[in-house]
Amino acid sequence: MESSLTYLIILGALSAVTEGAGLLPDGPLQKAVGDSVRFNTSKTPTETLFHSVLWKFKGETILFATPANNNTTPGYEDRIIYFPSTASLELRNLLTNDSGEYRVEIVSATADQGSTTLEVLEAVSGVTVSPNSADLLENAPVTLRCSSSGSSLTFLWMNGSTEVTASDRVQLTNENKTLNFTSVSRYDQGLYRCHVSNPVSHKISETVNITVNYGPEDTRVSPSKPPYATGSTIILMCSANSRPSPHFTWHVNSTKLPHDGEKLQLMKVTMSNNGNYSCRAFNPKTSVTVESPPVPITVTVLVVSPACSAGCIAGIVIACLVLVAGLVGGGYFYLHKKKTNRRMTDFPNTEVHQNDYVNMPNHQHDNMSSHYENVDGSHYENMSAEFRRAK
Ligand SMILES: *[C@@H]1O[C@H](CO)[C@@H](O)[C@H](O)[C@H]1NC(C)=O
Ligand SMILES: *[C@@H]1O[C@H](CO)[C@@H](O)[C@H](O)[C@H]1NC(C)=O
Ligand SMILES: *[C@@H]1O[C@H](CO)[C@@H](O)[C@H](O)[C@H]1NC(C)=O
Repeated sequence: MESSLTYLIILGALSAVTEGAGLLPDGPLQKAVGDSVRFNTSKTPTETLFHSVLWKFKGETILFATPANNNTTPGYEDRIIYFPSTASLELRNLLTNDSGEYRVEIVSATADQGSTTLEVLEAVSGVTVSPNSADLLENAPVTLRCSSSGSSLTFLWMNGSTEVTASDRVQLTNENKTLNFTSVSRYDQGLYRCHVSNPVSHKISETVNITVNYGPEDTRVSPSKPPYATGSTIILMCSANSRPSPHFTWHVNSTKLPHDGEKLQLMKVTMSNNGNYSCRAFNPKTSVTVESPPVPITVTVLVVSPACSAGCIAGIVIACLVLVAGLVGGGYFYLHKKKTNRRMTDFPNTEVHQNDYVNMPNHQHDNMSSHYENVDGSHYENMSAEFRRAK
């Protein structure tokens, strides 16, 4: 009875006031279901309480406070916290039904009123995309769809870390929920995600793995460098522009080789390996096979191993001849010495070395000298040693 009387007095007072500018913050305040909201008035906290404070939601009183007591409308008791010093109000466990206009009327020395709006939004949840992946051929169409629960949702699609924008091949429809490719390109391959947001929350979908298969294109053989000598190893590599990686087969003069794979290794080649080599790249996804241009391989017989020059060969030949000559010459001296020794018993001269050399038949001497010119000192020394031992 007392409070209704006060109420009437307040109503009379309020009729004299105008809307208090900025008593409550400008709306809408946006909150998620389950959140709390605090309507703070612009009043500075005072020690003397307001004569009366009336909070209304959509025109209905939810709280009426005087210095003596606070009356909270049934249904709000557990959800309202009132702050008497500023006449502010906190509302907890928000429901979407709490969306709407809130108004406060404060009577003290003056009478003020203010209002704001609250928007309680359902948070984004249950974001799903379909399909979860797409394995496509180039130029195929595909449509990705995104769905989500929540209120005031906005959708956008990400391609890796860049936002998908509409183009002649790409359409975004149904408020961006639908991403439609009229024709995918190989460059569209990637991981796509749908981002869903509203003012109170944000969620990202699982990835959609889009694979765009193409090729093979530009199949080619990269040969090792000629010349190909008999006995050497030839390695040929095949490459192609393709997704997925193609299956490679090898062909010589259009006859398939038993070996498959990007690398062909021909060991200890002979002229029988000669031919026009090509590889064929087969893409199992596109079912396309593309053959490389042929690469002619010609194996030649090389007399000289590239590791030994003509000069080196000549040196080896001469060294052999010297060795043979040395053996022959040594044998001659040995026999000749035996005869000489017999003579030396007649002439007791120990200094026979020089004589023996001088006594060597002229043709033998000349022959030896001509070889010695072409060999190094060590050969000469060896010959001398042998000569001395032969004595
Ligand atoms: C996806 O990103 C790649 C570069 O990362 C780009 O080439 C391609 O056009 C993009 N596709 C779409 C649909 O955004
Ligand atoms: C996407 O799919 C392709 C084949 O469909 C697969 O090879 C690749 O690993 C997948 N990528 C991811 C990140 O899952
Ligand atoms: C390779 O092809 C060329 C031209 O097509 C041809 O002249 C040549 O005889 C071929 N070589 C072999 C070994 O078949």
